[in-house]
Amino acid sequence: MKYVIAIINPHRLDEVKIELEKEEVHLMTVSEVLGCGRQKGVTEVYRGVKEVGNLLHKVKLEIAVNDEFLQRTIDAIIKGAREEKIGDGKIFILDLKDCVRIRTGERGTEAIG
Ligand SMILES: Nc1ncnc2c1ncn2[C@@H]1O[C@H](COP(=O)(O)OP(=O)(O)OP(=O)(O)O)[C@@H](O)[C@H]1O
Ligand SMILES: [Mg+2]
Repeated sequence: MKYVIAIINPHRLDEVKIELEKEEVHLMTVSEVLGCGRQKGVTEVYRGVKEVGNLLHKVKLEIAVNDEFLQRTIDAIIKGAREEKIGDGKIFILDLKDCVRIRTGERGTEAIG
């Protein structure tokens, strides 16, 4: 199991969601966050994106997946979020040790999806 954390531009969220739905990835957590990339906000501010100090508004997606869903999840995020511009975002992939569905007590791959 993997835990996928993707930081994307807010205006790409709908498109990323559509691409994930196509791959039958429905379960996710979405947060509004502030982030700083390599350009420290400077170039992106120049392009008109709202800033808070050198932090830019981003969206964070968190998706726990079974291993066979990992690559299609990554591909869908890239497809929805890539504009070939700085600040397009980043995907972090973590090993996920376990997962518990609170309602049933199911664990691991059963609980995840
Ligand atoms: N190493 C990192 N650690 C934590 N968060 C990061 C890291 N790199 C990027 N992020 C997050 O991802 C967001 C988008 O990053 P961004 O796409 O600007 O990456 P980048 O490395 O600067 O690449 P690019 O040159 O394509 O802009 C950042 O605003 C930040 O929230
Ligand atoms: Mg950047």
